[in-house]
Amino acid sequence: MTGMHTATHQAEFREARLVEVYDAQNTWGPDDDYFLARATEGPGPRVLDLGCGTGRLTVALAAAGHHVTGIDPADASLDAARRRPGAEAVTWVHGTSADAPAGAFDVALMTSHVAQFFVADDEWAGVLADLRAALVPGGILVFDTRDPRDRAWESWHTPDERDPVVLSDPPGDRPGEARVVQTWCEITGERDGVVDFTLGYEMPEGDELLSTATLRFRPEDEVRASVEAAGFAVEQVFGGWRCEPVGEGAGELLVVARAV
Ligand SMILES: C[S@@+](CC[C@H](N)C(=O)[O-])C[C@H]1O[C@@H](n2cnc3c(N)ncnc32)[C@H](O)[C@@H]1O
Repeated sequence: MTGMHTATHQAEFREARLVEVYDAQNTWGPDDDYFLARATEGPGPRVLDLGCGTGRLTVALAAAGHHVTGIDPADASLDAARRRPGAEAVTWVHGTSADAPAGAFDVALMTSHVAQFFVADDEWAGVLADLRAALVPGGILVFDTRDPRDRAWESWHTPDERDPVVLSDPPGDRPGEARVVQTWCEITGERDGVVDFTLGYEMPEGDELLSTATLRFRPEDEVRASVEAAGFAVEQVFGGWRCEPVGEGAGELLVVARAV
């Protein structure tokens, strides 16, 4: 063991070695199928993927024929996204919602709970206003946020248990011993729907990395009110990836709203 690094905010997305772990943990799933299908429901082909991360869904949207822009503030994640096959079909932007051009999109997506990273109400309102400005009238906003009633964070708390993540061999390398990262999670704070946590990683090289983050779990009525206040009509809120009612699906609030 070569020592423990200090915790870095959102290192999960910002440090190349942890971005590789993120991709090994987050492979294509039913949420991606859901968003890929929803992206066809806008008035045209121009899709904004805010918080696109390493671009798993972003490149699939482009491969499906959409004109896609992916925006993310994390350089290391965008670097990984740009290396994906098909990445050249996407416009990648290092930035935030403030960098989205006005009136340029038919669909705006925030996937894998990007919406929960906007913790303060004024920050969330600002992002929604930026997305409304980025969409044409009649454009759709589609995002997921976890239902606080499901209390998902309670099952994340495993500071005494390690969950192994197997990394793929680097390209061009001869297959060797599997590179395994031991991961864990510690919830460090919980108040009024705001949850602080630390992710821990024991790397194959023997050192430990820590990543901190804070997520906001907004209840359905607050989500609806904030989206409507930004100039959208909320058309649907589902509880799971098969469009189950809220409370019966996967503990999600899946919002579909139209720019008015
Ligand atoms: C859980 S990841 C989701 C990434 C991707 N959408 C996916 O499906 O894998 C959250 C992403 O939100 C990004 N993010 C964090 N703060 C942000 C902000 N202020 N504006 C836009 N994106 C942000 C992170 O860099 C990270 O890539």
